[in-house]
Amino acid sequence: MPTSSSPPTPPASTIPDDTLLVEVAWEVCNQVGGIYTVIRSKVPATRQVWGGRYCLLGPYFPQQAQGEFEPDDENLLASSEDSFASAVRAMRALGYQVQLGTWLVTGRPRVVLIDPFQVYPQLDAIKADLWNDHHIPVPAADDLLHQVVAFGELAKVFLTLLAAETAPPRQLIAHFHEWMTGVAIPALRREQVPVQVVFTTHATLLGRYLAMNDPNFYDHLMQVDWLAEARRFNIEPAVTMERAAAHGAHVFTTVSELTVRECIYLLDRIPDAVLPNGLNIERFVALHEFQNLHQQYKNKIHEFVMAHFFQSYSFDLDKTLYLFTSGRYEYHNKGFDLTLEALARLNYRLQQSGLEGQVVMFFITKRPFTSINPQVLQSRAVLEEVRETCEAIERQVGERLFFAAAASDDNRLPDLSTMVDDYWRLRYRRTLQSWKTQALPPVITHNLVDDQTDDILNFLRRANLVNNQHDRVKIVYHPDFVSPTSPLFGMEYGQFVRGCHLGVFPSYYEPWGYTPLECVARGVPAITSDLSGFGDYVLQNVPAHDEQGIFVVHRQEKSFDESAEELTDMLWQFVQLNRRERIMQRNNVESSAEMFDWKNLRVYYEHAYQLALERA
Ligand code: G6P
Ligand code: GLC
Repeated sequence: MPTSSSPPTPPASTIPDDTLLVEVAWEVCNQVGGIYTVIRSKVPATRQVWGGRYCLLGPYFPQQAQGEFEPDDENLLASSEDSFASAVRAMRALGYQVQLGTWLVTGRPRVVLIDPFQVYPQLDAIKADLWNDHHIPVPAADDLLHQVVAFGELAKVFLTLLAAETAPPRQLIAHFHEWMTGVAIPALRREQVPVQVVFTTHATLLGRYLAMNDPNFYDHLMQVDWLAEARRFNIEPAVTMERAAAHGAHVFTTVSELTVRECIYLLDRIPDAVLPNGLNIERFVALHEFQNLHQQYKNKIHEFVMAHFFQSYSFDLDKTLYLFTSGRYEYHNKGFDLTLEALARLNYRLQQSGLEGQVVMFFITKRPFTSINPQVLQSRAVLEEVRETCEAIERQVGERLFFAAAASDDNRLPDLSTMVDDYWRLRYRRTLQSWKTQALPPVITHNLVDDQTDDILNFLRRANLVNNQHDRVKIVYHPDFVSPTSPLFGMEYGQFVRGCHLGVFPSYYEPWGYTPLECVARGVPAITSDLSGFGDYVLQNVPAHDEQGIFVVHRQEKSFDESAEELTDMLWQFVQLNRRERIMQRNNVESSAEMFDWKNLRVYYEHAYQLALERA
């Protein structure tokens, strides 16, 4: 049995049970990146503790909110006695547009959405206040910053009204995520609004930029002149907002121990707590169900792979392993560079070894492209035609054989090929002929806007890892997210993950990093690194994590070459597992997911809230 650990048991909560909690995030009903996952997956666990005293607050973008948000019935809103409804009514009475409703996700929380654009006529005054009161500069023509600043002002108005509805000793906690909403914090404090403020940063802005540009980021962290660097990267306004939020909060938190270091040196405040990220883990009653899903979605990936490769040459799909990485296109930060290096080494080892089978590695990320490569689309279409032809032949032979069998007085199987019409024989031949090609399968599925300077492509060219027939590691670089509407995969990302054998995420910079955890939650083993918040958490809290299919590449104080060799060894071990061992490993992975359930990890949030109340 895998061992598992769980976070510290909390002391009995001293949070009075009439306290209100508002969680403020840019990504409420508005998916942009990882914070959406944090907020959304945490809802059921949060609701379990806070029930109707919990509400989310975010910006209203009608396009994005469509399908995710259901406004309250107006009559209900008019008569509702709950504090959130009262605050919304009060804000409307002042002439603002505010929406109250339900976020249509598991747990169905209450949400308040506010359109930032409504205060654009007052933007100059809002910006002047930010500068005069808090020394936060906001340039003239930056659309995102304008939205952020406008929303911050509106969030402040809402919380001020909600606080007025919350008669003492009843208390109100507002938990802000990331600088984009945190910009409201300094004014809330300055105006002494009676609300206890928690601020969580999910990275530091400067940290991300520096890590991308400085190969020795971690060594230089202690000497960074934040203002000079912020100016160099042209992100001074956002960095100033982040610092002001961190300093203004009663309780300042981040998502991992790794980011704590960044906060200390780049934001000049030691976080009061670390709030690790979890998921809402939904497990099947029977173990074989998720294993069946693996098989089912692997078959869909097989279809893609046949279309992509078999036009040029074929291989045994039953001896093929699917590896993948995914995430924002940050070549160095996401460890794409390390992954590629290890794949090239693995390719060599496999070629030397005499081991059977091959690896297909998918890079799923997002880059500007002009179109899907027409050759790739065409191949997929022709393969579809091959399938239709085969099915037509199957039907024809099936019927004829049935008649022949019933009419025959001989028990021997007749020659089936005589049962196929000439039409279908020719069509079969022609379709296959038109499909097969001498060209190598492309390493990328799309035509990039900038093909010449793309780091992934350049590595592949340099290393000659270009899907030669003799290569045992094949590459598919898909510069777009996988989605059910994508003509190449036509599946959800989560289904794609299930169909793969291993996720590879050896990041160099990753405050938390959900991708490996998303694998684990689906019973797919994953590789992470000790420079990702998740990997660091695993090292500290999960004994024998290797046995549970969670592998951590060491990158702290290691050279690129050393880490690449360690990663190669991990991949090498993995490709040598047999099917039975892989199935067992997936079972172990799946059962270890439980410890990352929000039901366990929410206690960290409760601690932070308790601390915020103590600081009232
Ligand atoms: C799941 C299915 C099995 C299948 C196996 C393949 O466990 O339930 O029927 O044989 O996947 O595993 P593999 O690691 O080879 O894709
Ligand atoms: C940020 C971090 C990422 C983390 C996410 C959620 O996007 O870069 O590592 O997973 O926030 O906390």
